[in-house]
Amino acid sequence: MSRTFIICKPDAVERGYVGQILDRFERKGLKLVAGELRLLDAETLAQHYAEHVEKPFYGDLVSFMSRSPAFIAVFEGPDDTFAIVRTLMGPTNPAEAPPGTIRGDYGTVMTENLVHGSDSNESAEREIGIFFPGLG
Ligand code: RTP
Ligand code: MG
Repeated sequence: MSRTFIICKPDAVERGYVGQILDRFERKGLKLVAGELRLLDAETLAQHYAEHVEKPFYGDLVSFMSRSPAFIAVFEGPDDTFAIVRTLMGPTNPAEAPPGTIRGDYGTVMTENLVHGSDSNESAEREIGIFFPGLG
């Protein structure tokens, strides 16, 4: 078994797609074990996106991610659940994401790509620790 961390980003909440996104993960067979609507602050985002802090797009990314509440959640499934979630999400750029993926079906532009999913088991453990430190 393993767990992974996801964010329905502010664009997904604003556009009313949280239910549909969670539905895709649940239909796939993953179990929701934690979830909360939360306004993310710059400090938390700097921890979460530590690998991107120096990137040119970081300012736009933080503005976007903190402009309105996001829905953060943890899903549980078999080994490497993070990879299952990433497959359902599709590639980072919605313009290049194939139909059938969340980003391919609902997005058009780079930053506003609806959903985050941890990119490894190590990232999942780190990110769950940031957002749900009390989760056993
Ligand atoms: P995420 O971390 O949000 O799940 O996305 P990801 O792994 O597919 O992509 P990553 O490289 O980690 O980038 C994090 C988020 O930053 C925004 N981004 N903008 N304008 C740009 O060139 C650019 N590159 C990345 C996206 O919102 C991306 O999801
Ligand atoms: Mg990433």
